[in-house]
Amino acid sequence: GLPERVTVYEVGPRDGLQNEAAVVPVAVKAEFVARLAAAGHTVIEATSFVHPRWVPQLADAAELLTVMERVPGVRYPVLVPNERGLDRALEHGVTEIAIFGSATETFAAKNLNRTLESQFEMFAPVVARALEHGLKVRAYVSMCFGDPWEGPTPIAQVAEVGRRLLDLGCHELSLGDTIGVGTPGHVSALIDAFGGPDRLAVHFHDTYGQALANTLAALRAGVTVVDASTGGIGGCPYAESATGNLATEDLVWMLHGLGVETGLDLPALVETSTWLAARLGRPSPSRVVQALSPR
Ligand code: HMG
Ligand code: MG
Repeated sequence: GLPERVTVYEVGPRDGLQNEAAVVPVAVKAEFVARLAAAGHTVIEATSFVHPRWVPQLADAAELLTVMERVPGVRYPVLVPNERGLDRALEHGVTEIAIFGSATETFAAKNLNRTLESQFEMFAPVVARALEHGLKVRAYVSMCFGDPWEGPTPIAQVAEVGRRLLDLGCHELSLGDTIGVGTPGHVSALIDAFGGPDRLAVHFHDTYGQALANTLAALRAGVTVVDASTGGIGGCPYAESATGNLATEDLVWMLHGLGVETGLDLPALVETSTWLAARLGRPSPSRVVQALSPR
C-alpha cells in the first residue's frame, strides 16, 4: 500500500543554493522562500548556520531570516552543526533545526572536521539545548548508501549512526543518499534495518537517476516524509560527485498520479522553478518542469 498523504520537505533554499557557484542575492532567496510557501509548502529548509567560510553561499543566513516573510503554519527549519550555529539560529528566532551526521568516517572528516565518533560529542549539546528552548530537531544521516571514498556503506553502520542521532532526542531522521548511488532494494533493506519507517524521512540525490524509484520503495515501506528540491537543484560542496536532489516537481507529478495528497500546487511550483532558473542563469534539471514549461 501507499500513504494517503505525503509531506514534501523542501530543501531548495538550503541544499539547492548551497551548491551554486555564484552567491544568490538575499532578496532573491527571500522571494524564493515566499513563493514556495505560496505554492503550498508547509516545510521549507531555509538556510544553514554553518561556518560561513565552509559554505559562503549561505553566509547570509542571519540576514535572510531577518528579511524573510514567515507564513503562519509553515515550518522553516535551518541546518545547525554545532553550538555556535545554534546560538546564531536562536538569535534569529528559529524554531526548528536540523543537525547533519555522517554514516562514514571520511565524510565526517570532510564535511564536519570530526571523526565518526566525535560528531556525536558535537551534536549532543546542540540537541539538548535546542530541546530546552522548545525547538524541534531533525537529524540527517549522510552517505547512507555509499560514499565516494569508502564505497558502499554497510547497512548496520548506517542503522547504528542513525539510531544514535535519533536517541539524542530528534523527532525525525532523514536518510541521505548524498551521492545518489542507492537503488530501491537497498532502500527497503535499510528501512528494515531500522525496524520500520517510524520517524524516518528520505533524502535522495538523483545523480544516477534513481531518486524517484527509491522514493517509491520508501513510500511502499511506509515512509511519509520525502525531501526534495525545487527544479532538482542541489548537491553537497564536500562530496565530490553529488549532483542535484530529487526534483520537487517530479516527485509531485508521481505522487498526484498515484492519488497521494501533498497539498502542493504543481503549476505554481513549476512557475517558481522557471523563475529561479532565470535567476540562476540555467534551465531547471527537472523533467516535469521542462515538460510543463512554455517554450
Ligand atoms: P571547525 O573548523 O572544526 O570549527 O569546523 P571549530 O569548532 O573548530 O571552530 C573554528 C572557528 O569557527 C571558531 O572561531 C568558531 O567560532 C567558528 P574562532 O574561535 O576560531 O574565531 N565557527 C562558526 N562560526 C559560525 N557559525 C558556525 C561556526 N562553527 C564554528 N556554525 C564546522 C566545524 C562544523 C563548523 C564546519 O565543518 C562546517 O561548517 N561544516 C558545514 C559543512 C556543510 O555545511 N556542508 C553541507 C551541508 S551537509 C549536506 O549537504 C548533506 C545533506 O543534504 C544530506 C545528504 O544529502 O546526505 C544534509
Ligand atoms: Mg543533500
